[in-house]
Amino acid sequence: MATQRFEPTPLPFRPEQLRGGITSESVRIHHDDLYGASLATLAQIEQRLCAMDYQNVHHTSSPYRELKLHQGFTSNARRLHELYFQQLGGTGQLHGRIIDKITEQFGSFESWRQDFMAAAMAARAVAVLAYDIYDGRLSHVIGDSYDHGAVWGTVPILVIDVAEHAYLRDFGPNKKGYIEAFLDNLNWEIVTVRYEEWERVP
Ligand SMILES: [Fe+2]
Repeated sequence: MATQRFEPTPLPFRPEQLRGGITSESVRIHHDDLYGASLATLAQIEQRLCAMDYQNVHHTSSPYRELKLHQGFTSNARRLHELYFQQLGGTGQLHGRIIDKITEQFGSFESWRQDFMAAAMAARAVAVLAYDIYDGRLSHVIGDSYDHGAVWGTVPILVIDVAEHAYLRDFGPNKKGYIEAFLDNLNWEIVTVRYEEWERVP
C-alpha cells in the first residue's frame, strides 16, 4: 500500500479578522500547531501500517489494532479540523437554500440555533450539523472524541470544535461565549455549498 503525504489546508481568512473574542494567537496555535501535528501523525501511522505484517493481530491488544484505532482518531481529527477552519471568517449571516431546509426541519432559525447550542454545549470534542444522504434529513451529532459519535450515512456540513483547546485560552470556562462567537464568525455560504453538494447525491 502506498503511503500518502498530507498537506495542511491554509486558513481561508486572516485570523485577526475574527470577532467576539476568538484571538488570532489561539487560531494560529489551533491551526498551525495542533491541526498541523495531526497531519504529521497521520503520515507516520500510515507508514507504520505499511511496514507491518499481519501476524499476531488480536482484538484485545496488538500493535496493528492500536495503529488502526489511532488512524481512525487522527483521520477524523484532520477532516473535522479542515471543515471547522474552512467555514470561519464569515459574518454569521444565514445564507442560501440551507435557510429553507433549516426552517422546514427545525421550525425557525432560532429553534435550530437553540438545538445547535445545546449539542455544542453537551459535546466534549465536536458537534456537527450532519446531512443524512439516505433520508435527506439534518441532525446534530455530538462526539466526546474526534473518533466518537459519528452516525454512518451522514456527512458533516457544519462543524464546531468544542474541545477545551479550542476555547479555554480565550474564554476560560465560558464555553457558551465561545460557541456564540463561533456562530458570529460563521460563513454560511460554505455551509450552504456543502449542503447543496450532498443534496444532489441520489
Ligand atoms: Fe481542535
